[in-house]
Amino acid sequence: MTELHCERAFGFRICLERGVLDPASPALARAIGDRRALIVTTPTVAMHYGTAFRRACAAAGVDVALAVRSLDEQHKTMDAVMGVAALARSVGIGRRDVLIGFGGGVTTDVVSLAASLYRRGVACIRMPTSLVGQVDAGIGLKSAVNAGGVKSALGRFDPPELVLEDPTWLTTLPARATRSGFAEIVKIAMVRDAALFELVELVGCSLVASQFTKPEAVVLPLLERSIELMVTELRQNPFEECLERLVDFGHTFSPALEIESAHVLTHGEAVAIDMAISTEIAVILGHVTSAEADRIVAVLHALGLPTTTAWATTPLLAAAADAAVAHRGGALNLVVPTGIGTAGFVRERDEIGSDLLDFSLAAVTARTERVSGRPAHVPARAL
Ligand SMILES: NC(=O)c1ccc[n+]([C@@H]2O[C@H](COP(=O)([O-])OP(=O)(O)OC[C@H]3O[C@@H](n4cnc5c(N)ncnc54)[C@H](O)[C@@H]3O)[C@@H](O)[C@H]2O)c1
Repeated sequence: MTELHCERAFGFRICLERGVLDPASPALARAIGDRRALIVTTPTVAMHYGTAFRRACAAAGVDVALAVRSLDEQHKTMDAVMGVAALARSVGIGRRDVLIGFGGGVTTDVVSLAASLYRRGVACIRMPTSLVGQVDAGIGLKSAVNAGGVKSALGRFDPPELVLEDPTWLTTLPARATRSGFAEIVKIAMVRDAALFELVELVGCSLVASQFTKPEAVVLPLLERSIELMVTELRQNPFEECLERLVDFGHTFSPALEIESAHVLTHGEAVAIDMAISTEIAVILGHVTSAEADRIVAVLHALGLPTTTAWATTPLLAAAADAAVAHRGGALNLVVPTGIGTAGFVRERDEIGSDLLDFSLAAVTARTERVSGRPAHVPARAL
């Protein structure tokens, strides 16, 4: 028997810098070079940055077609991917050219997936403009769309060529989207870095209130640390051959919550609720103290993130846990905190029976009411 052994090395750069769209910046010229590029963005991002982008492209002398598409969670579908591929064809994107996703996590997911399929794969540059995008969705290898009522059901692992992000883009982000992004920062802080968690406790509210401008001295270090932690986790396991992933904290029950709420809950909000429930499970199983759980719920509450919702029911959580087992090679691998900045796994599905799920839902409601001083279910429904 003959064997063909193929290996594929990869690596990509994540550049976080101010002034990417400044006409004097070399960022776009370096990124695109002499290739043809199709850049896909959303109406909101185009409204804020379309003019600056066109001006920057003209100054850089790059050959770019700009397309504006409504890419939100409802449109995160294969149809959207096919739409981007059709656009790429219509503007003459060839094998050596590049697709660029300029927007939130939905945009970079859809454009990345389109780039990985179009002509069997062309280069992709991500320019994430949301906080979720800058610290999470835009910087990994994964891309996915929703299908058949399942969150992120179809997708791929394909590294982008480059991630180009500018923290000043966060200044136009709606407060709700900033809060949602903080859920991913709290996630990575909770599992890896107590100091980052403390920083979020200290300045998170101010950053939300000031549209990520104040305290100014913290903006770049906070983003850099969040990205660095995420990249460290991804570097060890880029293609998820190991299905025990600390970065899955908050990502076991949240996909079902997003779908159940018909995307009324944002990704970050669903992650926040999942983290609160997972934390309560950890308290019950004796992995984390009640005082530490108070801090987690308190920081989420202070950031304006929900920790409870009427969409979270025991049957829904049980079904989500079953789906996680199917997705994670037969193990539950629920990530639970073991302190602030450290986490472990609940590996077996039968460790979280219906009684425990029932109890954790009641406990997270009680904790939320105690920590926030208001009824628990109202804020999430009112979002
Ligand atoms: N691929 C991955 O590894 C990964 C990881 C985490 C999340 N995700 C996905 O990311 C998505 C969530 O990302 P998101 O929160 O960015 O959602 P999103 O893409 O829907 O963006 C949120 C909103 O913010 C707007 N927006 C974005 N940047 C803006 C800016 N600078 N100024 C003003 N408005 C701006 C968008 O137009 C949109 O209305 C989910 O679909 C989630 O599944 C993917």
